[in-house]
Amino acid sequence: MKKIFKVLGYLVLGVLFICVALFTYVSFAWNKSYDAPFPSVSVSTDSTVLARGQYLIYGPAHCATCHIAPEDYDAMSAGELVPLAGGNEIVIPPGIFRPRNLTPDVETGIGSLTNEEVARVMRFGVGHDGRVLFPFMPFENMTEEDLNAIISFLRSRPPVSKKIEASDYTFLGKAVLAFGMIKPTEPGATPKKALKQEATAVYGEYLANSVANCAGCHSPRDLKSGEFLGPKFSGGLVFEEKDAFFTTPNLTPDPETGLLATWNEDSFVTRLKSGLVHEGTPMPWSSFAMMDEVDIRAIYRYLNSLPPTKNLIEKTVVMKE
Ligand code: HEC
Ligand code: HEC
Repeated sequence: MKKIFKVLGYLVLGVLFICVALFTYVSFAWNKSYDAPFPSVSVSTDSTVLARGQYLIYGPAHCATCHIAPEDYDAMSAGELVPLAGGNEIVIPPGIFRPRNLTPDVETGIGSLTNEEVARVMRFGVGHDGRVLFPFMPFENMTEEDLNAIISFLRSRPPVSKKIEASDYTFLGKAVLAFGMIKPTEPGATPKKALKQEATAVYGEYLANSVANCAGCHSPRDLKSGEFLGPKFSGGLVFEEKDAFFTTPNLTPDPETGLLATWNEDSFVTRLKSGLVHEGTPMPWSSFAMMDEVDIRAIYRYLNSLPPTKNLIEKTVVMKE
């Protein structure tokens, strides 16, 4: 009997030791710094470039959906250029994430960041302080022209002084970082210089994967680390919001389980243009409603060119009790 207690005692001590070691490691290692290159940027004040930047930011790249306060969504939907001064919070198990003030204010915005630091956030997912960022902004393969246009537009706006607190990580979030489960992103092939905006599957592939992040939400993923767990665009990612659970539909052309099997290109355009139906959905409907029709057609053509994947999503919205 005594022996068993002794063994148990060692076991408890062992587990305690491992917990303390884990805790200590995570609290020291979570905010390690990464080296990633600073992409070169060329900023312009040309009106065509600024218009392109504005279109991407408020439309398909939906920086605005995350980087403005939720109470300003209506003004944004009405076409107002609401300043990208932050004020939104994304609350998920790894932490409370607060998109920054992107206006050129020196104290509270990106006025103190170089263009290359902003570009590094977009291409490599590494923040100005060297921290790897959770994958909210998968713009690593954005074309050079579009990246330049976005930064040019941000620089052209009036500064707005609004202090945004740093994001707060939970223990889980810190552990994900400490154990290197999120790494700086790598632009796949060298990013293209430019792509022609036209209603083709090639341009749709670019929008859905590298600009509008349809892939990021409409694919099975681990919500802790962002890792992809199954075929892209097959849906099934679940978001718990205040009043409901939202599940992304399968966007592949599977005749039985693919949402778009019964939609033609025109009904897809109409649906995207008509905006939000379910209050509280994480899909950035207001930004996408501002997309040009050619972009929506391009995305439809791309989605229809994907290999069909069977994944039945019974309901995309389930209200909480
Ligand atoms: C899905 C939400 C989301 C979208 C879309 C988004 N951002 Fe962000 N952004 C965030 C969050 C969250 C942070 C804060 C990250 C943190 O503190 O870990 C952030 C931080 C940043 C930062 C500062 C990073 C640093 O150095 O600390 C820049 C620059 C930025 N975003 C630019 C952009 C641009 C440009 C776009 C559009 C092309 C964009 N973001 C779209 C959520 C988003
Ligand atoms: C931040 C996550 C997110 C992003 C990004 C996103 N979606 Fe969604 N999407 C959802 C969720 C959640 C739903 C289910 C709830 C709803 O219909 O709003 C949904 C629903 C849909 C629907 C079905 C609407 C209906 O009437 O049943 C379509 C079509 C769709 N998304 C297409 C897209 C396309 C195309 C893109 C990229 C341009 C995209 N989504 C980007 C989360 C996202």
